[in-house]
Amino acid sequence: MLKGKSIVSIDDVETEDFYEIFHRASIFKKTVKEGKSLELMKGRIMSTFFFEPSTRTRLSFESAMNRLGGSVISVSEAKNSSAAKGETIADTIRMASSYSDIVVMRHPMEGAARVASEFSTVPVLNGGDGSGQHPTQTLLDLFTIWEKYGKIEDLEISLVGDLKYGRTVHSLIKALNRFNNKINLVSPEILQMPDHFLNTLKNRTKINLNSNIDEVLQTTDVFYVTRIQKERFVDLNDYQKVIGSYSFNQELVDRMKDNAIIMHPLPRVDEIDPKIDGNKRAYYFIEAANGVFVRMALIDLILRGGKVE
Ligand code: NCD
Repeated sequence: MLKGKSIVSIDDVETEDFYEIFHRASIFKKTVKEGKSLELMKGRIMSTFFFEPSTRTRLSFESAMNRLGGSVISVSEAKNSSAAKGETIADTIRMASSYSDIVVMRHPMEGAARVASEFSTVPVLNGGDGSGQHPTQTLLDLFTIWEKYGKIEDLEISLVGDLKYGRTVHSLIKALNRFNNKINLVSPEILQMPDHFLNTLKNRTKINLNSNIDEVLQTTDVFYVTRIQKERFVDLNDYQKVIGSYSFNQELVDRMKDNAIIMHPLPRVDEIDPKIDGNKRAYYFIEAANGVFVRMALIDLILRGGKVE
């Protein structure tokens, strides 16, 4: 049951809720495609606090709330809010919860959303906390896989790129690990998924550490490619060493399974050649578009919970 809940980590979402979200997102996708408008959130307000850059997450949350008939108030830069005057997360969130029915927050500090949820009297959705987690991205990633394969289990999934700092893969591997999947971790040595994180996974899944992209190319069903998170490097010389480590280009795509898909939370830098955007395996824009429908489902389940027609 999601009603009234904050989503800080993907662990806050039960497995049965995944399927509720998928079904509801499919209904909303159809409704929006048919050009119908909804009033399920009439009179409700969402506040969004984005203290780190964002295009997709913020806009898709705001679009989702508007599409449900609700409204949005937002702070898009820390420098435009009292955070710049030294206000604590606790105080900011106390105010936000008296101004709105649900809060979305992105913050550079890992753990910020947890703190926010402890002080908030309304549900808080983590839109990304530093190198921590990005649970709502995971829900739209899973929905995209579910739409394609009709399941989120018994698949071979390769997570590629920055597995150390990338919060999207941190949440995604936790979710995938609940099912029987085979997961390959493909990254430069200095960007491997941290042990402290891997140790938190109860292994239902077979995880292949330190895979080589060539070894997994012909068996993978889902490639989940990520950007190297330049802004999180302590030493930019290290970034120089790993820049351009992967390039998903035509030559690579030609060797993949016919039915494979390539996902990416975006923004991309140079990990995916735009020349393959038209390939039937390129799913990243479909994935980004799904963000609106999945977030509509999530908001509706948290704030209302009833059935949708
Ligand atoms: C990601 C993020 O912010 O973690 N973007 C997103 O929300 N779609 C990925 C990234 O910035 O590389």
